[in-house]
Amino acid sequence: MCGIVGYVGEEQAAPILLEGLSRLEYRGYDSAGIAVRNDKNDKISIVKAKGRLKILAEKTDNGHAVRGTCGIGHTRWATHGEPSENNAHPHCTEDKTVVLVHNGIIENYQELKEKLLKSGYTFYSQTDTEIAVKLVDYYYKKTGTPLEALTRAMLRIRGSYAFGIMFHDCPGKLYAARKDSPLIIGKSKKGCLIASDVPAILDKTRNVYYIGNLEVAELTKDEVHFYNIDREEIQKDMVEIKWDAESAEKGGYEHFMLKEIHEQPKAVQDTVGAYVKDGAIDFTEVGLTDETLKNLERIYIVACGSAYHVGMAARYVLEDMVRIPVEVDLASEFRYRNPILVPNSIVIVISQSGETADSLAALRLAKERGIPVLGIVNVVGSSIARESDYILYTYAGPEISVATTKAYSTQLIATYLLAVQAAKVKGTIDDKRYTDLIAEIQTLPGKIQKTLDDKERIQWFASKYANAKDIFFIGRGIDYAISLEGSLKMKEISYIHSEAYAAGELKHGTISLIEDGILVVGVLTQKNLFEKTLSNMVEVKSRGAYLMGLTTYGNYNIEDTADFSVYVPKTEEYFATSLAIIPLQLMGYYVSVAKGLDVDKPRNLAKSVTVE
Ligand code: F6R
Repeated sequence: MCGIVGYVGEEQAAPILLEGLSRLEYRGYDSAGIAVRNDKNDKISIVKAKGRLKILAEKTDNGHAVRGTCGIGHTRWATHGEPSENNAHPHCTEDKTVVLVHNGIIENYQELKEKLLKSGYTFYSQTDTEIAVKLVDYYYKKTGTPLEALTRAMLRIRGSYAFGIMFHDCPGKLYAARKDSPLIIGKSKKGCLIASDVPAILDKTRNVYYIGNLEVAELTKDEVHFYNIDREEIQKDMVEIKWDAESAEKGGYEHFMLKEIHEQPKAVQDTVGAYVKDGAIDFTEVGLTDETLKNLERIYIVACGSAYHVGMAARYVLEDMVRIPVEVDLASEFRYRNPILVPNSIVIVISQSGETADSLAALRLAKERGIPVLGIVNVVGSSIARESDYILYTYAGPEISVATTKAYSTQLIATYLLAVQAAKVKGTIDDKRYTDLIAEIQTLPGKIQKTLDDKERIQWFASKYANAKDIFFIGRGIDYAISLEGSLKMKEISYIHSEAYAAGELKHGTISLIEDGILVVGVLTQKNLFEKTLSNMVEVKSRGAYLMGLTTYGNYNIEDTADFSVYVPKTEEYFATSLAIIPLQLMGYYVSVAKGLDVDKPRNLAKSVTVE
């Protein structure tokens, strides 16, 4: 996820671009850049900077050092190539004939790169965007018209894109094009604008056009013309935006956390799509070969907080599917307990930020001991990503809310894919099971969406329990791992004391805390453990607990025991965490909202814990 802006008009472009980018920083913040020109035939000036936008602002004296009334800008969230000035957008041809910003992922960039190399193009960055700009240039040289060059390039590109483009030969003009990535066109009295999202242009105009898939827009300071892929002009209606700037940034959601909860189907889909090709798992990008997986005799998973809970769920999946021992450690414990790491093993470090101090220290310890490290990381180019031997990126996009939701969900997917591939190469599952498991993973985005569609019941229930003092979550096996994350979500944003227990452990002490009216959430997605957990629920009910049961559709007998029941779609039991966590995230969220708390920035917490 990145953010793009563009402006052509009467005013100086650079300050407008920087202002717009600052409102899009939630879409990415590892580097930024602008390209600006005047309305004569002078060269286009490009300024880029690694890091947050304020560095670019300093470098350009808040935009005043770059003169011109036409320009494009970009704030980046790396997907191909580490965050660096070289990889930052805008990208351009050597002579700056074509300059372009891009949000999206070009899937066939390798194939296109080979074609362009054969035609004599060279490449200075590791980005898929540079391929796009050179492809447009290739067709521009052939056809001599920007519109034809663009549409012909669009037909060659597979994947998603929103482009903002400047051609040196067309002063006073901007082009925009899109497929499957957001892009809007704004029109004000003093010029026309492009942006990935409404907040970027709200201080300039509320009048926008929505540009459709495979359409192109041509902007001058007074007019916008739209074209379809056959270069026929099309008419569009202007829409008036009524949101205020802050709610626009959250896409209409009240909080980033709710927005990110709703982004999970896409985040999961993007992560699956990155590694599943033609019905098989492909870890070429990760660097992990089947040979390496085949030789594994033990796996250590190390992480903190929610990422550790992913590890807890993954252990059940990996051990059962691959039949090798899996140890899961909190990074802060692992690094100081002088762990015994056996040969032919791998340490998996899971981290959204890739900067968590304890996880990074655990990674370094493993490497010192000669054990290879696989990082499962969301932030491209982060410390853990750079220092890992193998890197499996999750494709959640930037996560703004302190409490993780979509990054957690994509980390789960990464571990499922790893388990399925390892099981295949080790021969613990046959080809049919391999295909079936992958097909089931591909259904998860749709099933997560279905679970989200039922959110009103959770909202109602959460408002009833907003004043609870204690909440317990219980489950066995994978359901215990789900309980750990459900409990953390609840306590960190609602400030209600909450604990998760392996259901069988309750009667070894904790059950003495159960008294009249205490809410106990039983998680029951695993068939062979259903009756066992159910009887633990009966035990706490007879001591006065109020019971919520969380299970899969079909297990309706839960209603004989639970006071309130929540159902999620059926899936392969290994993958149940991906669905059962959704109502628990929503429950934590709605309790926090009902209590009027700062959902996105809970007290005492930071998004990235870079100290131990
Ligand atoms: C909880 C949460 C934290 C993180 C933990 C690890 O909602 O977000 O528990 O999971 O701080 O952070 P990363 O994944 O960045 O290493």
